[in-house]
Amino acid sequence: MVDVTRARSFEGIGEEYDRYRPGFPQRAADVIIPESVDAALDLGAGTGKFTGLLLGRAARVIAVEPSAPMLAVLARNLPTVDARSGSAESIPAPDGSVDVVSVAQAFHWFDRAAASAEIARVLVPGGTLGLLWNRADPACAWDLACHRVAHPAVGADDDTSASATDLPGFVLDLHEEVRWTERITREDYLRRWGTVSSFLVADDAERAAMVASLETVLDGADETRGKAEFDLPHLTDVFRYRRV
Ligand SMILES: C[S@@+](CC[C@H](N)C(=O)[O-])C[C@H]1O[C@@H](n2cnc3c(N)ncnc32)[C@H](O)[C@@H]1O
Repeated sequence: MVDVTRARSFEGIGEEYDRYRPGFPQRAADVIIPESVDAALDLGAGTGKFTGLLLGRAARVIAVEPSAPMLAVLARNLPTVDARSGSAESIPAPDGSVDVVSVAQAFHWFDRAAASAEIARVLVPGGTLGLLWNRADPACAWDLACHRVAHPAVGADDDTSASATDLPGFVLDLHEEVRWTERITREDYLRRWGTVSSFLVADDAERAAMVASLETVLDGADETRGKAEFDLPHLTDVFRYRRV
């Protein structure tokens, strides 16, 4: 069941999200669109961190996002993208009008049945649905410990790929795990946590306690202690589906 308060927590941010959240590797877009297509639609597009990778792979790129501040940043960063206000449960696009729908770090916020039906509606027969999520590398103990600070109830992350299993109207034809590394400053790493849903819905005292716990983790690990900048490993899970 989707936590609506947390799903809507992104409504108030745009600039911070764009500044501090990680992007996605080119390989993830290659998996979803191996050959160029006419139209691709990025759903729950946020500020366009994945949408930008669709440019050059699709002649027409459409972004759909419910948060006005997120969509404003996307429109500014990616002026050639057709940016539309809307949701996964009511996609502002005609039936059978796009070859590819991508959903980056967002499918777990959707009403799964309604969104699957809407995505199937806007896709051409045999069209592609790509779901992707960045997640912590389980081999990186300090990053995992920080994920547990932000999401103690669920473990590794709230951005879960667990929702990528059987989808009505689709067959899964590929799952690939892409490994990549990001160089990040300690300050940006800490600020990134301020853009995740559990921080956004917390009160000031809870947020301060979480930041203190994150600092304790960074001060305790050899890879990060006393360093202004460090390497952060990522895994991106890419699930490619065909509309049946
Ligand atoms: C974690 S952000 C991911 C944004 C972007 N795809 C990225 O990877 O940077 C989740 C996004 O899903 C959007 N969202 C939440 N509920 C949604 C819904 N029902 N339909 C479409 N988008 C939704 C949020 O507004 C937010 O922009």
